[in-house]
Amino acid sequence: MNTDFPEHFFQRPDESADEKFYSQPRFVTHIDDATISCLTDFYREQIASGTRVLDLMSSWISHLPEDVDYAHVSGHGMNAAELAANPRLDDYCVQDLNRTPTLPFANNAFDAVLIAVSIQYLIKPIEVMTEISRCLAPGGQCIVAMSHRLFPTKAIHAFQVLPPADRCQVVATYMEKSGLTGIQALDRSPQTGDPLWIVSGYCS
Ligand SMILES: C[S@@+](CC[C@H](N)C(=O)[O-])C[C@H]1O[C@@H](n2cnc3c(N)ncnc32)[C@H](O)[C@@H]1O
Repeated sequence: MNTDFPEHFFQRPDESADEKFYSQPRFVTHIDDATISCLTDFYREQIASGTRVLDLMSSWISHLPEDVDYAHVSGHGMNAAELAANPRLDDYCVQDLNRTPTLPFANNAFDAVLIAVSIQYLIKPIEVMTEISRCLAPGGQCIVAMSHRLFPTKAIHAFQVLPPADRCQVVATYMEKSGLTGIQALDRSPQTGDPLWIVSGYCS
């Protein structure tokens, strides 16, 4: 795939302000329970207790294992009521990353940054991924989890038309262009339920 993405790649059917779309809380899950369970297992394997975690594009649920104690979990998303209801978050902030892709965190502030079933909504993903890279401590990991459901009016064109393997390659390219290394794509789908594709990379 050409890594110089074409202009229409990041276009969305609804280009109005995201604030409006996310103004009402959605206390729903966006993937099946079996898929959530696979994602939680992956987090358990990859993110050690005592580490500092940022759940970016978060909501009322972070899918982190309940029995693991992290040093700190920050949340970042679009709806304050959803984030306030998320029991895993120690703190949170609301910010439209499509308007302001810079993150309000210090360099090296986190050991893991997560984006669960949301990367398809970013129109400036390389800017955001570069910020993730800045906020990760050396050795820190970015984990992007994807499935096949989406809000069709708000997902970028590429994620509406490309097959799963290409979508993973797109995310790997976002990471590569942002300086992350050790990039891997995995299929961690349950036997039945929504698929789960994960792309991860490290800050060196
Ligand atoms: C499908 S939900 C997934 C929420 C959560 N990560 C989960 O796994 O249930 C998509 C999330 O992307 C976030 N999001 C969408 N557009 C965004 C934007 N422009 N800036 C920041 N976050 C955004 C919203 O907060 C929303 O909760």
